Amino acid sequence: MIKAVIFDLDGVICSTDKYHYQAWKQLADELGVFFNKEINNRLKGVSRMESLDILLEKSEKKYSLEEKQELAKKKNDIYRNLLKNMDVNSVSSDVLKTLYILKRKGIKVAIGSSSKNTMYILERIGLDNCFDAIADGTQITKSKPDPEVFLLAAKKLNFEPNDCVVVEDAKTGIDAANSGRFVSIGINDAADYCETKYRIKKVSDILNIINEL
Ligand code: BG6
Ligand code: MG
Repeated sequence: MIKAVIFDLDGVICSTDKYHYQAWKQLADELGVFFNKEINNRLKGVSRMESLDILLEKSEKKYSLEEKQELAKKKNDIYRNLLKNMDVNSVSSDVLKTLYILKRKGIKVAIGSSSKNTMYILERIGLDNCFDAIADGTQITKSKPDPEVFLLAAKKLNFEPNDCVVVEDAKTGIDAANSGRFVSIGINDAADYCETKYRIKKVSDILNIINEL
């Protein structure tokens, strides 16, 4: 019997993944570094600084740690500006319905996100008081594919990993869920990933999966 659902935030609860892409693309263009959707997919679930390292793989110039911190800040400033477009209407009715039904069934809901902007985003979309536990990029030292953020969410809920399912849109997130011994559920890119245990097309599909487990 599943007791909790741990949701990734970016690309699962809301479509902030498109703003991450726009912000990284703008930075890459300014630096004259090649960047496309395929490279962007490798950044999903990965921390800001590790993402920057991936983006800079294509750069001829080498940057010092200080310069990289400045670049990461620049990307985050562009990203935070784009996040101003988000409000309560940025959450799909499918996601809202799913959260409502899970709560009605007595199943706990949590966030497991590598993002340090998690609380800001949840406030913007009006879901800051919705989750029973939030584990985010400000509370962890290792980002996905390490399971730390999901283990922290489970710990906050007082459940074991096998009491919880994890819903992810990134391959790194599926690897993190599997290595933490959670049941992994993949949407979008993660639905095409061979390591994903259950594949879904929309978030509410998790309700059928949970009923079977
Ligand atoms: C993850 C995103 O949720 O958070 C990554 O999938 C992002 O793309 C990471 O790099 C860190 O986000 P932030 O908001 O702390 O820069
Ligand atoms: Mg994601």
